[in-house]
Amino acid sequence: MEPKIIQLPKHLDARGNLSFIEEESHLPFKIKRVYWIYDVPGGEIRGGHAFKETEELIVALSGSFDVILHNGKKEFKISLNRSYNGVLIPKLMWRQLENFSTNSLAVIVASTEYDEQDYIRDFDIFKKNKSLC
Ligand code: TYD
Repeated sequence: MEPKIIQLPKHLDARGNLSFIEEESHLPFKIKRVYWIYDVPGGEIRGGHAFKETEELIVALSGSFDVILHNGKKEFKISLNRSYNGVLIPKLMWRQLENFSTNSLAVIVASTEYDEQDYIRDFDIFKKNKSLC
């Protein structure tokens, strides 16, 4: 499985631009949760885990940051800096968010409700899980 960058609709307007996400049109999953990460101090890293079941779409609604992904074999680096681009992350993919610009805002649309049991926080255990797939 590989991460996928999707382009969301954008309505460019002299009054300001507008983009949106529709479950049926843009996502391979039903939306169970939306959360956001903000006020990240310079140099901090978020994520550092994989999910057993959760699929996510990450959008840089404001500012920019890098999404570093690992599927057990290969690493991907995706820089998000447009509020109409998103990265779709399948389950069982290691992710780290870093290099946040000042005032950046990450919004994450998820296929599950929050459940700590769904997290894999150890990279070696993640790799073992992948090798069983
Ligand atoms: P965590 O997922 O570890 O953050 P990161 O985005 O860096 O991976 O979550 C940080 C804390 O927030 C942790 O105590 C769990 C809590 N949390 C919720 O309560 N609900 C949520 O939807 C999420 C994503 C986290």
